[in-house]
Amino acid sequence: MKLLEITGGNQLTGTIRISGSKNSSVALIPAAILSDDEVTICNVPEISDTDVLCDILNYLNVENKRASESIVINPKNLENKEISETYSKKLRASYYFMGALLGKYNKAVMFFPGGCPIGTRPIDQHLKGFEALGAKVTIEKNKYTIEADQLKGANIYLDVPSVGATINIMLAAVKAEGKTIIENAAKEPEIVNIATFLNNMGAKVTGAGTSTIKITGVKHLKGCFHEVIPDRIEAGSYLIMGALCGNRLKIDNIIPEHLESLISKLTEIGVELEMGTDYIIVSKGENYKSTSIKTAVYPGFPTDLQQPFTTLLTQCNGKSKVVETIWENRFMHIPYLCEMGADITVKNQTATIIGSNKLTAKEVVATDLRAGAALVSAALIAEGTTLITNVEHILRGYESIVEKLSSVGAKIKSREI
Ligand code: UD1
Repeated sequence: MKLLEITGGNQLTGTIRISGSKNSSVALIPAAILSDDEVTICNVPEISDTDVLCDILNYLNVENKRASESIVINPKNLENKEISETYSKKLRASYYFMGALLGKYNKAVMFFPGGCPIGTRPIDQHLKGFEALGAKVTIEKNKYTIEADQLKGANIYLDVPSVGATINIMLAAVKAEGKTIIENAAKEPEIVNIATFLNNMGAKVTGAGTSTIKITGVKHLKGCFHEVIPDRIEAGSYLIMGALCGNRLKIDNIIPEHLESLISKLTEIGVELEMGTDYIIVSKGENYKSTSIKTAVYPGFPTDLQQPFTTLLTQCNGKSKVVETIWENRFMHIPYLCEMGADITVKNQTATIIGSNKLTAKEVVATDLRAGAALVSAALIAEGTTLITNVEHILRGYESIVEKLSSVGAKIKSREI
């Protein structure tokens, strides 16, 4: 077990280079098995989630080589086997092997996926999509057997614009016979990145980034070279930390358009931002104003930034509100922020924050990935040394967080306990 030890009160200055997107990479790695030849994916972050997916590739006998920022995957010798519960439970994105194996071999057997405990996280929309394509889904306890004689294109309307279901259905449909239309698809930049990858392999996917995605099935997918987009959530998290204690902190290698909802909220409360084409320089401003946010699907305010943004709201003057509409259990960081001195109450899916309050170091728990980012943000401005346990959650999604923050002046150490 690891913990983070952070002593607050230091200004962050210098440059943080943003890594490739976690949520793209965790779909691209399983998607690569759809190819008949070798594919190279570059700008893949070295985080535990991508490591686990490579373990699953090894288990399926898929050759994969990790260079510093890229992965070369050759699925030529893949053995389509049942993916055990131990692997499936390690992360949410294990479920992309359902779509990819089904798409390539007409059969996938695996268990209900894991991931952060931020809600019940059903996968009914994924299964509905597979069934519409002609697959039969059998569920025994937690085990899912998904099988088809032949997948056939279909019209699929998603009841919720789920990121995971949209990607999984794309993976299953790219080699299906005929045309598939996904209506009410999710529009996140990661979906566009996956569709581009599939098209680079020879798939015919149009409309990614809009709510209607059209896929015409092809027989073969070939090798390609593909680049992962920058991680907008990692970038957003560091922008928030810069708003809390930055002094011309440069958040580099980003696509600012992917962060528009956050940028407009930061500007609204009074954060100083200097915009570049692929960077933003952020400095802590004075007398931040309170505001309200409501999480929504892209391009709305991302639920994944709600938790670190709540830490920033503790430093705004007056009453702010955070309404969480995507995940029912995403306020687990709040009791810890309150222990550190924040004034926050939660009722139903709304947190009310009264600020601004001085924060003091405490021993806190990263209950999930982005709760961890919220607590790191709080620790950076708290008086004293905060200890954060359950750091494994944070390491699932933030590449080299200790090194990145240390390099810009934070006092942060990771140690084994
Ligand atoms: C992805 C992201 C996660 C982010 C979330 C929302 C990855 C690996 N994770 O998660 O960081 O918080 O998008 O932006 O990319 N739902 C159903 N049925 C389904 C699927 C989803 O009801 O079959 C609901 C969920 O309960 C939730 C909403 O749809 O309320 C959004 O979920 P979804 O977009 O699927 O999130 P994930 O893909 O799991």
